[in-house]
Amino acid sequence: MSFVQILFAVSTLFCASALAAFGVTESSSAYVVDAGSSNSLSITISRSSCDITSILYRGEELQYKSQGTHLSSGLGTATVTSEIIEDQYAKITCNTATLTHYIVVRSGDSNVYMATHTTEEPEIGELRFIARIDAAKLPLEYPFGDVSTTAGSSSTVEGSDVFVVDGETRSKFYSSERFIDDKVHCVYRNGTDPVRACMVLPDPAYEASSGGPFFRDINTNNGGAFNALYFYMNSNHAQTEAFRQGLHGPYAMTFSRSVTPEIDSINMDFFSSLDIKDYVPSSGRGTVAGTLSSVDSAFQKVVHWYNDANQYWAYTASNGDFTSPRMRRGIYDMKAYQGEFVVATGSGIKVTAGQTTTQQIASNVGARNTIWQIGDWDGQPTGFRNADKQLRMHPSDSRMESWDGLTYTVGTSTLNDVPMAMIKSVNSMTIEFTLDSSQTGAATLRIGTTLAYSNGRPQAKVNSFTGPSPAAPAKIDSRGFTRGAYRGNGKVYDVAIPASTLVAGTNTITIDCISGNPAADFLGPSFILDAIELFQ
Ligand SMILES: *[C@@H]1O[C@H](CO)[C@@H](O)[C@H](O)[C@H]1NC(C)=O
Repeated sequence: MSFVQILFAVSTLFCASALAAFGVTESSSAYVVDAGSSNSLSITISRSSCDITSILYRGEELQYKSQGTHLSSGLGTATVTSEIIEDQYAKITCNTATLTHYIVVRSGDSNVYMATHTTEEPEIGELRFIARIDAAKLPLEYPFGDVSTTAGSSSTVEGSDVFVVDGETRSKFYSSERFIDDKVHCVYRNGTDPVRACMVLPDPAYEASSGGPFFRDINTNNGGAFNALYFYMNSNHAQTEAFRQGLHGPYAMTFSRSVTPEIDSINMDFFSSLDIKDYVPSSGRGTVAGTLSSVDSAFQKVVHWYNDANQYWAYTASNGDFTSPRMRRGIYDMKAYQGEFVVATGSGIKVTAGQTTTQQIASNVGARNTIWQIGDWDGQPTGFRNADKQLRMHPSDSRMESWDGLTYTVGTSTLNDVPMAMIKSVNSMTIEFTLDSSQTGAATLRIGTTLAYSNGRPQAKVNSFTGPSPAAPAKIDSRGFTRGAYRGNGKVYDVAIPASTLVAGTNTITIDCISGNPAADFLGPSFILDAIELFQ
């Protein structure tokens, strides 16, 4: 076949499938953007509110009809304009006094590319994009399945966000993933006509979010009428850091058939040609590279850079080598972690456009004369009882193992004999261990916590000695333990044990959660355990 014949054959094929042309059609109330793609995508955007009111994928309406797809709970009123750039990008710009939201459709594919510029936190106190997809069309959630499907609930466990469905506790919060791992999440259906709508978040999608690499937030929730697909840029859901403003994203909402998009398949570098407020292309960015040393190879290692405007992170290779994502110019602070436990901090790290800054980091965790240690210093409750379940269900769920009555005997018990959380009036824990006469001097009991709620903190009793009642930890906004979060400030408590308190033979330590606030079952004061160590 000649080139002309091939062209002819291709155009005949396209005509046969009645391909709509790429472009924007304008009415007094809306812009209708057609992607001109073979798997057709057409979205309708209100010219008064910026709400997406229709998502037609392959001719099928996926948008829930009683509410729109939008930022927060809708902008209400916005100035909405449309332009076509380079004949291939339809750019819809929505402006309010404090926010500019960009919705971009590229000729020939089935994705909605977005970026959101803010100068102030929205009044509702969080910044999110929510696509309300008709749950009858796309009922399933990826990757965690129905843990966050609250449709058909028979009762409420807590607040207005934890429910019981078929005897299991469910919440939109149980769809969360650590930001460092949250690349692609979707709502979908399988079967003979599969369709997926996914949120795809390549670096630097989270650069203006807050909370660091281990923050997690709501990703999906089939609540019955609509299946919500979110990109939470910031919120007070176990908030550890002030909100950042500026340009959030770009991020993509993709539409596909049976294939979940790979993170690397979405490249939004073309935003550099779209005149986006505060957008910095790769060429205007720099990186930090080096090695994180002296961390036990058993741990996953992460380096995290941040300042008031932006945040970035990278896993290191197993030998500790790292290269940051492409960062905006600026001066950064740094934290390095084994797991999620801070092992080094730094400041004054300068990032320059087009250059690589070298940074060598050594873990500052020194050797101690450890008598015993329970759990790893990894900033996570991993291994402790119910830690494998707490991310995806409520502590009252019948699938949880009992929280109380546990004794850990050093040398014979397993980590499952330690509850991942201590909750005022719900549980207490006992540690039994044997010492010889050389070990009865002064010692330190170190109790690592990852998250506290309602002023919960540990108080220990060592044989007949009652340890001090520590001051209340810094308050973190909103619930966490009951909503699948375990990461807060990671406070570590040291109990100084006077000489002759420990005895040769059997010793007993009990640990309780104390707080001036009243107990309220699992919703009362609590803290989550990282590790417990006795050293001299
Ligand atoms: C949908 O299909 C995918 C791919 O075959 C599969 O991995 C997934 O488990 C299916 N989901 C359900 C709920 O069956």
